Amino acid sequence: MGKEFKKKSIVLIGFMGAGKTTAGELAAQKLNWGFIDIDQEIEKKFGMPTKEIFKKYGEEAFRTYEKNIIELKTSEEGQVISLGGGAFMNEVTRNTCLANTVVIYLDISWDAWKKRFEQLVDTRPVLQGRDLNEIEELFSKRRILYSHHHFHILTDNLSPDEVADEIVNFI
Ligand code: S3P
Repeated sequence: MGKEFKKKSIVLIGFMGAGKTTAGELAAQKLNWGFIDIDQEIEKKFGMPTKEIFKKYGEEAFRTYEKNIIELKTSEEGQVISLGGGAFMNEVTRNTCLANTVVIYLDISWDAWKKRFEQLVDTRPVLQGRDLNEIEELFSKRRILYSHHHFHILTDNLSPDEVADEIVNFI
């Protein structure tokens, strides 16, 4: 990687359950950088899980705070920042991350993702009330948003530790 990326924070994007938090934490440890999980920051602020925030305050309130906290956190250097899977729907967020950080897309194939569905459905409000066909449609739409990145890692056959190694290799 060229010098222009030195110390810039890393932002991890990708669909729910792609492993952004786990691999991000490991990469931060390997780099001796800080780690920030945007969903956890939002949950801390509201004092409740994401699912409850959606229920009590609505998705829009979640998205507004998500955009603001990302703007704040991406202004820091030397951080690995894991974004929620919907954060790149916001154009300002996309542009801010692409301009100020190294954006790494943790990609996963639909076949690999489907196997994780049961594990995710209870905690991800966006999955609730949608059948698998509808989720596949959302998956395809989100892929277009994730095409805005600097680096790409296909995670299907990699352990979290291997994904973290690949992240570190980009720096
Ligand atoms: C969302 C993804 C979640 C969380 C919220 C909404 C989405 O984050 O931000 O439930 O719209 O894709 P993860 O990608 O960490 O699951």
